Amino acid sequence: MKTRLHRTTVTVLCLAAWALAAGQDSGTTLKQAWEKHFLVGAALNPNVVSGKDSAAAAIVKAQFNTITAENAMKFGPTHPKSGEYNFKLADEFVDYGTKNGMAVIGHTLVWHAQTPRWVFQDGEAKAGRDTLLARMRDHIMTVAGRYQGRIHGWDVVNEAFDDDGTLRKSPWLNGIGEDFIEKAFTFAAEADPKAELYYNDYNVWKPEKAAAVIRLVKDLRSKGIRVDGVGEQAHWGFSYPKNGELKAMLQAFREAGIKVHITEMDISVLPNPWDYQGADIGKRFDELPGTNPYTEGLPDSVQAKLADRYAELFGIFLEYDDIVERVTLWGVDDGHSWLDYFPVRGRTNYPLLFDRQYRPKPAFDAVIRAAGTGK
Ligand code: G3I
Repeated sequence: MKTRLHRTTVTVLCLAAWALAAGQDSGTTLKQAWEKHFLVGAALNPNVVSGKDSAAAAIVKAQFNTITAENAMKFGPTHPKSGEYNFKLADEFVDYGTKNGMAVIGHTLVWHAQTPRWVFQDGEAKAGRDTLLARMRDHIMTVAGRYQGRIHGWDVVNEAFDDDGTLRKSPWLNGIGEDFIEKAFTFAAEADPKAELYYNDYNVWKPEKAAAVIRLVKDLRSKGIRVDGVGEQAHWGFSYPKNGELKAMLQAFREAGIKVHITEMDISVLPNPWDYQGADIGKRFDELPGTNPYTEGLPDSVQAKLADRYAELFGIFLEYDDIVERVTLWGVDDGHSWLDYFPVRGRTNYPLLFDRQYRPKPAFDAVIRAAGTGK
């Protein structure tokens, strides 16, 4: 009994310390600092939702007002086999967001990755257009329909374009044709009429891609199909996008009357000799010497550089807060970032606002301070 009490006291003290630490130099939280401008959130994994990762869970409750499931709502986890759905993790995630009064983002309904092979097969042959459309409709009606009224917005279609603005040669495009995107948005509007509906992609700041996405949204809207916004994933680095490139993207969306969500933000601090920009999960490179330099910790100079980078990017979001609706970090703490595995496996990256001990980094303070700058 004594041991249990002691353990409880220690846990409570630790959580209080984390909550305090996550209160930072001014005591202001991320969601407070930015509340007049846009939502601020994070992608969560199941251990955060269940509370097993109690330190991350404490940060989420204190700091964020919107959440995205990093994987739990994707096609593979929710619909692993034909006719077989599994909603355990997705239900827990949506319940968590609802209970905590957070804007819950559904990610994602139609994507070429993390979609089981059976979806695109018909026995030994490739599934034809009608089969694929029926499967897509069933999936969207079942998944988005299940959470009807509880989801703030859905990433309806994810990563349908290549960086040059042409449509990605995905199994959805190959099997259905170019109208797979408008079909997905039509089904999603039917499944959850109140949820916002987004097109989501990485490298939307590249001019050809921005132009293609804007053309898509205008085309769908001209047909009476609802698209409420576009997500730029924001898997970025120190040198890309250039601030001018990001502003040009936001300006183009402002002129087109399209809202923007920064949906999966992280800033890689590691060397990038491959000069790879983006988040194509199919891309992998061999590790080169010198590309994993911070296994023992991040030098102060790089911490400071990361803080400056976050500050300048949030400063730009502030300039465009009339169209930027939300900024979501792709994870809570550096210890749980996909960037340790991409584009090469097994590196130690530091892309987020909280470190591996769940302490707020200088980048956190910089983001808080950036809310007081700008306009
Ligand atoms: O759940 C299985 C587990 O059962 C199994 O034991 C384990 C073995 O590797 O794999 C687990 O699945 C992994 C899953 O993450 C959950 O951890 C997959 O292998 C792994 O590929 C998957 O990676 C995710 C990736 O999307 C692929 O879908 C990343 O966590 C997630 O951060 C990343 O997120 C994407 C966005 O959805 C879209 N934009 C790009 C972004 C980064 O790639």
